[in-house]
Amino acid sequence: MTYSIHERDGLPSELQTLLADYPRDAWETHPNFAEAIEHWLGAHLYFKRMGAILTKETQLFLDDKRSTREFGARIGHYGNEIIQHLHNHHHWEDHTFFPEISAADKRFDIGLDMLETDHTDMDVLLDRFTTAGNTAIKSAQNDPPKAYDAAGKLLSSTQAIQTFLDRHLEDEEDLIVPILLHHKMRG
Ligand SMILES: [Fe+2]
Ligand SMILES: [Fe+2]
Repeated sequence: MTYSIHERDGLPSELQTLLADYPRDAWETHPNFAEAIEHWLGAHLYFKRMGAILTKETQLFLDDKRSTREFGARIGHYGNEIIQHLHNHHHWEDHTFFPEISAADKRFDIGLDMLETDHTDMDVLLDRFTTAGNTAIKSAQNDPPKAYDAAGKLLSSTQAIQTFLDRHLEDEEDLIVPILLHHKMRG
């Protein structure tokens, strides 16, 4: 069975046993909803916001609403930011957080494997984004006629990151928050 992110439209039903008892709309009011869980969910919101900013900035450049200099500076700044933070976040999840969850409840290991595979797939998208971003910034500076073409490619890349994050983060939260609440973890 494949749990590939490119074929999922939600958390696979066989991994939803705890989600049924701990539905998303009841998380925040649950007595085991610890501050650390809120922070983790906050990091996910931040990634989504960064993805949206990158798409918006690229679109503004394509619409002639950003100068070449502004475009280069903003894509460079927000691009580095999201790449670095995502890298740290995934590293911590793979090496610290997921092993902790697996030790508390073995039933969902296959879901944790699925999420780790997502992280590897995300690296591919981030590499493509880095290449597209560097090309767009360089052509904006040195070869303006090519800049729109390059920015168009960058736009597909930022949109792919957004689509990926939406799926990955929702499934990750739907798998993990119920486990944390059920076992009163990170309180
Ligand atoms: Fe995460
Ligand atoms: Fe993750």
